[in-house]
Amino acid sequence: MALMADDLFNAARAVMTSAHAPYSKFPVGAALRSASGAIYVGCNVENVSYPEGWCAETGAIAAMVAAGETTIAEIAVVAEQMPLITPCGGCRQRLAEFAAPDARIHLCDASGIVETVTLGELLPRAFAVETRS
Ligand code: THU
Repeated sequence: MALMADDLFNAARAVMTSAHAPYSKFPVGAALRSASGAIYVGCNVENVSYPEGWCAETGAIAAMVAAGETTIAEIAVVAEQMPLITPCGGCRQRLAEFAAPDARIHLCDASGIVETVTLGELLPRAFAVETRS
């Protein structure tokens, strides 16, 4: 499965170079595959008012939703400075809005996918409201 997601890793690594991270100096890239098979990318965008920035995963999710899609099949995340990055807590909840517990999360270093986990492993017992459509 990891090899099949190399396109996601490459897209995440490419968009990481667009990150706006002058405060943390920690560029991150994310690329997700939606149910249609399209790839959507995002990078972290920081702000001088620090809490106002957003994560790479958040940007990729926003691009998918803006394009009219609502299902994430899998996502790759990369940070050049980390041997293996895992999505932050807020992004895990944002992913859970659009991804099933068995959706694959590819955790990458600068040269490729290091480990693949499921959203359910990253966010067990996620908050969910049964009436949500
Ligand atoms: N960041 C992400 O973009 N994704 C994550 O999963 C973890 C953290 C960003 C937020 C901030 O711009 C920088 O990394 C340092 O925390």
